[in-house]
Amino acid sequence: MTAAQALVDAVKRLKAANVPDATNDARVLLAYALGIERSRLTLVLPDEIGDEAHVSYAQSIAARVTRQPVSHILGQREFYGRAFRVTADVLDPRPDTELLVDTALTAPFETLLDLGTGSGCILLTLLAENEAATGQGVDCSQAAINVATANAASLGLDQRSQFVVADWFSNVQGKFDLIVSNPPYITADEMVQLAPEVRDWEPKVALTPGGDGLVSYRIITAAAPRYLTAGGRLIVEIGASQAADVQTLFQTAGFDGITCLQDLDGRDRVVFGHLA
Ligand SMILES: C[S@@+](CC[C@H](N)C(=O)[O-])C[C@H]1O[C@@H](n2cnc3c(N)ncnc32)[C@H](O)[C@@H]1O
Repeated sequence: MTAAQALVDAVKRLKAANVPDATNDARVLLAYALGIERSRLTLVLPDEIGDEAHVSYAQSIAARVTRQPVSHILGQREFYGRAFRVTADVLDPRPDTELLVDTALTAPFETLLDLGTGSGCILLTLLAENEAATGQGVDCSQAAINVATANAASLGLDQRSQFVVADWFSNVQGKFDLIVSNPPYITADEMVQLAPEVRDWEPKVALTPGGDGLVSYRIITAAAPRYLTAGGRLIVEIGASQAADVQTLFQTAGFDGITCLQDLDGRDRVVFGHLA
């Protein structure tokens, strides 16, 4: 069988299982099975597919049919131009979260705290982009901290990063120039509408705090001023309908310069403010 024939079969299987973007996923997983860059796939489609690659491809397609996310099958996800290890223990880093990183990089910082670090994608990207900085990542999940620690090592950032298992600030000492967080914010009502890739494969603790989805912001905004240096910034990612509520929480906590930014789709995505 040629790689092209294997691809056609795989697309049919994925479409029959109602997998969105079946053709793209089938191509990505074929390149992975063949151990080549995606850009080279078209060149090798007329070639015979070897037995080992064929078995590996069949396994990947079977996993995708069960709606396992492509990132879990590949074991990694690209975020801000770097590869991050991703498992079922962490949120799959989203392109939308790159806006939080861009926002953080608009002003200088030397010390950084990332609350709910997950894969470590925000903290480690900011450390990679700012070589003068050191940072701490906090997560309530030991399994997530293990993934973040592995990502720090593979990106060569283990000397400038530290990871702590904690309930938000409960195990945090000292003050930081910048606190960032992409906390769980999906409401209980929204949880039932999620795609199977998210609902069945990503950790619930990473997705929702239950109720109105705002409890993490209440805790983080109230405590953050005690952990920020003078003029220090707090930047959080939010759900599209949460801007007004989260900005009110920033005001109540005494932040200045409170601003909401929209993502590329025009949805409210990031709120930030700073101490006087
Ligand atoms: C939306 S995920 C964000 C992960 C990563 N920062 C990212 O942007 O891809 C939220 C993270 O917060 C963590 N988390 C949830 N509740 C927490 C708590 N009470 N204290 C610390 N971390 C918590 C979850 O384990 C999860 O890793």
